Amino acid sequence: MINFVGNLIFNGMKAPFIYGKIANNEDFTDREMESKHLLQNFRALVNTTIIAPRRWGKTSLVNKVADQLEKKYKDIIVCKLDLFNCRTAEQFYSAFSKAALQSSKTTLEEFMANVRRYLGRFAPTITFSDSTQSYELSFGVDFKDRSLSLDEILDLPQKLATDSKKQVVMCIDEFQNIKGYDEPLAFQKKLRSHWQHHSKVCYCLYGSKRHMLMDIFTNYSMPFYKFGDIMFLQKIQREDWIKFIAGRFKSTGKQISDELCGEIAGLMKCHSYYTQQLSQQVWLRTEKVCNKKIVEESFAALINQLSLLFTTIIDALTPKQINFLLAIVAGETNFSSKEVLKKYDLGTSANIKNLRKATLEKDLIDILPGNKLEIQDPVFECWLMKEYK
Ligand SMILES: Nc1ncnc2c1ncn2[C@@H]1O[C@H](COP(=O)(O)OP(=O)(O)OP(=O)(O)O)[C@@H](O)[C@H]1O
Ligand SMILES: [Mg+2]
Repeated sequence: MINFVGNLIFNGMKAPFIYGKIANNEDFTDREMESKHLLQNFRALVNTTIIAPRRWGKTSLVNKVADQLEKKYKDIIVCKLDLFNCRTAEQFYSAFSKAALQSSKTTLEEFMANVRRYLGRFAPTITFSDSTQSYELSFGVDFKDRSLSLDEILDLPQKLATDSKKQVVMCIDEFQNIKGYDEPLAFQKKLRSHWQHHSKVCYCLYGSKRHMLMDIFTNYSMPFYKFGDIMFLQKIQREDWIKFIAGRFKSTGKQISDELCGEIAGLMKCHSYYTQQLSQQVWLRTEKVCNKKIVEESFAALINQLSLLFTTIIDALTPKQINFLLAIVAGETNFSSKEVLKKYDLGTSANIKNLRKATLEKDLIDILPGNKLEIQDPVFECWLMKEYK
């Protein structure tokens, strides 16, 4: 049985690999240097941005460090906010105030008391959902017309820190979503102008769209330029994956050699999500002792399984967009040159800008430092190479 987040229950035993959800406890490996660095930054109230390609483990890392921090220091409050579903500034303000007033340790009663105390005059509504056992905070319709209230909301973490005599760490995931709000530049200016005065608060900002975050934090003309420390997360190393995979097999009474563990990580280019996914497939096929054939079969099965998804992606592209991806896969860099335009049938050089924009917006490519383009998903890249060779 597989549930939608990739949790596999097999013969009554939970598979020792997970993907598609936050990795913690025994599912989390390595990242010791990064964890230490982040923990120190939080403790010293250094604002931190984490930038990495999709599914390398940003959210899992912040989560782990947030847990460690709360366990280690009693005078720190960690608040977490995910902007995934916040598509407007108004939704941002509700979610931001909810997150600030409700740390992981806050009970519902404390939360209600906090809301009354800090937001009572905005007449907010709290809705409780029986099915998800969660509650939402929303404000009346005239809320957004009161700019004073917005300012107060943005200062809530600092106020909370001062009142409680603690430090507050605000972790904001999918931060790049703020670029989609009305007047994004003015919005960013507003956030920065408030947050830079918060002496008792540290902001950790991260998300899954690397190129958008790069623009927010490394572009000289943007308000968040030099907001704090920027951490470029690296891949988990092959040696760490070997230890992790072997250990997880062992914990369920199965065996795998270091060599085969290394092969799994190598086939998946040490990509966090995919290495866990392939490991799970291999584990599933292994009765007692793993062998090379099982790894090869699992890899083929995984590519096969993902083929459906990749074909759907390709079906939604124009022939020129596909050709553009193939040019990237082939390692081309000078897309506007006559030879490349001709070889891959990309149209005129003016078209390259559109192709780049369209594939970027579809999350298919990523822009690396130095303006180099790459296919975002390493397995999709492998598949493209194989299908279009
Ligand atoms: N430290 C880790 N140890 C083992 N596996 C990990 C680790 N970090 C991440 N993973 C694997 O990678 C997957 C993606 O992790 P996570 O959601 O934290 O990444 P992300 O970078 O936040 O992704 P996105 O870009 O989609 O937001 C997890 O489900 C897990 O399978
Ligand atoms: Mg994430």
